[in-house]
Amino acid sequence: MSKYTPKTILVTGGAGFIGSNFVRFALKKDPDLKIVVLDLLTYAGNEENLDEIKNNKRFTFVKGDIRDSGIVNSAMKNCDAVVHFAAESHVDRSILAAQDFISTNIYGTYVLLQAALKENVQRFINISTDEVYGSIAEGEADENFLLKPSSPYSASKAGQDQMAHAHHVTFNAPIITTRSTNNFGPYQYPEKMIPLFVTRALENKPLPVYGDGLQVRDWTLVEENCEAIFHVLLYGEIGEIYNIGSGNQLTNLELTRKILQMLGKPETLVTYVEDRKGHDRRYSVSCEKIKKLGWTAKRPFHDALAETISWYQTHRQWWEKIIQKQKSYQEFISAYYKTRV
Ligand code: NAD
Ligand code: DAU
Repeated sequence: MSKYTPKTILVTGGAGFIGSNFVRFALKKDPDLKIVVLDLLTYAGNEENLDEIKNNKRFTFVKGDIRDSGIVNSAMKNCDAVVHFAAESHVDRSILAAQDFISTNIYGTYVLLQAALKENVQRFINISTDEVYGSIAEGEADENFLLKPSSPYSASKAGQDQMAHAHHVTFNAPIITTRSTNNFGPYQYPEKMIPLFVTRALENKPLPVYGDGLQVRDWTLVEENCEAIFHVLLYGEIGEIYNIGSGNQLTNLELTRKILQMLGKPETLVTYVEDRKGHDRRYSVSCEKIKKLGWTAKRPFHDALAETISWYQTHRQWWEKIIQKQKSYQEFISAYYKTRV
């Protein structure tokens, strides 16, 4: 297994949830590493997510759009690696309107890939998702599993993956793709299930469980995903795909009850609402390949969830500000799912 040592990484979407956690993780992990973040600061991007490292001399922030080749080419100059997180990432929003998902996730990735060829980048980590495999009734999807995305979001991510693969095959671009399961942890935008439910429970508001709540997800702590991505950047084989998961499979209802229990809140907060359109019933990936590469998830789920809940309890200002800003979206989505704000 040969090792690649990155010197300067361009991290796209570094002001978002996983991207900002990755930047903190990587700067700590390698004391010689430099990072340039390129982020448009959409509704999901937040410079405050990077407050902890904003004065670090090895860190640079560039505000810009990955669909803009001028900005991308200049941000990528002198970078030898790219870790590409930037995306429209929320399934519910893609059901309401998918244009930005198509343009950022597919076209934006194309712009980055072309720039990577021009700049002779040595590693391009394409961050994808287990959602590209679609709903898996039983068993596990390995990296060769058929892509059968169900939502406009996952369809755009599958398009992104195919574009990255095509650049590897046609132009020899140094692509490695990761497909992780649902992440949770600090700095996750409170429209995704865990931060939404934790923050709503803290405010004694109803938790809108879609459909019967028996959908299954595999929950991975964001720090573990960051560690896995960093491992893939150093040791992964160019042209390969690596699933990343933890085996923490729970139904949404089981997870909701755990959150309420940990917060000491009553089960009466659970409110069943209309199901998400095209809702995937179950995700499950095989992680044998990344295990062979030398990485496996270690953190017990209970501890990771308790730590995450405690982070939201102690960072009220961070999420209250966001909730205030996204009030109109929350009102809209609550009306859409016929629940109360
Ligand atoms: P996020 O929505 O929290 O962050 C996305 C970031 O991308 C934001 O900072 C946003 O400002 C930026 N961005 C969006 N469009 C942009 C554009 N056109 N140009 C530049 N920046 C832009 O997303 P996340 O949850 O951190 O997910 C990061 C990546 O990981 C995505 O590619 C997502 O598909 C993938 N992923 C997420 C999960 C999860 O559970 N959150 C799981 C598997 C894979
Ligand atoms: O699997 C990886 C994917 O995980 C990532 O690619 C996506 O970017 C990320 O958003 C996430 O997608 P999900 O749709 O699985 O996550 P979300 O947090 O939106 O929902 C998790 C589950 O909870 C899902 O079955 C829908 C359900 N849910 C969600 C919300 C927001 C509810 O029941 N009620 C809710 O209000």
